[in-house]
Amino acid sequence: MGYKLKIVELDKIPPAEEFLTERELKTYNDFKVEKRRREWLGGRYALKSIASSLFIFDVKHIEVRPKQSGQPSLAVPGGCSLPVSITHSGDFAAAAIAVSGMAVGVDMEAVEPRSPAWAQQSFAKEEISSWAPVFLTELWAKKEAVLKFLGVGLSYDTKDIRFINGKLQFYGKALDLWAKLGSPNVQVDVKDLDGGYKLAIAWEAPLL
Ligand SMILES: CC(C)(COP(=O)(O)OP(=O)(O)OC[C@H]1O[C@@H](n2cnc3c(N)ncnc32)[C@H](O)[C@@H]1OP(=O)(O)O)[C@@H](O)C(=O)NCCC(=O)NCCS
Repeated sequence: MGYKLKIVELDKIPPAEEFLTERELKTYNDFKVEKRRREWLGGRYALKSIASSLFIFDVKHIEVRPKQSGQPSLAVPGGCSLPVSITHSGDFAAAAIAVSGMAVGVDMEAVEPRSPAWAQQSFAKEEISSWAPVFLTELWAKKEAVLKFLGVGLSYDTKDIRFINGKLQFYGKALDLWAKLGSPNVQVDVKDLDGGYKLAIAWEAPLL
């Protein structure tokens, strides 16, 4: 497997002072909205938990820094180029680190009813083989995971990433970017989590 994944419950996170750097603590304390502060902390805790199992450094020397696009990156003493990704939903946060491959993207979504109007706006017609909430939620999570893998999030059209008969296809701007990145072999794994969540992980699998 080309990535390490960690899922955390937001209620079971140690105090921020135990694992955030000084700079991260300042960001944490500056959040005005409690929900946002809590989920942000959860993402950092999940990511740092993986990082501290990979590096010898104390967790307080590992920093999660957002790029200009919002995509997170990892800063450790001496530098680190391992790609990372964060997601949060409801009472959970999750993070992944790619231990091989050029990128990773994770997205977690609660399975809930989705309106047909939303589905038609988000998905290409040929992708919608079911209107069941579980199907639409999984499809959305897979798309967002791939958009995070590409580092663009929802700044790109979600219809430029399509899953037709389960197979990933790129279109438009996403196709251009994917080609520019060297046409990586993007694989998407899906996990069903307790509590009714779908978690999708987009990663670069080696070509067989
Ligand atoms: C990023 C985005 C896909 C997140 O989707 P979401 O389902 O609302 O939220 P999730 O919990 O799954 O993911 C949030 C995490 O995505 C990560 N993220 C943000 N931008 C990202 C990007 N461009 N690429 C990859 N990951 C990104 C962050 O780590 C964020 O968590 P954090 O802020 O707590 O660190 C979506 O909010 C988005 O794309 N927004 C607009 C992007 C944009 O225009 N950015 C310009 C910023 S200047």
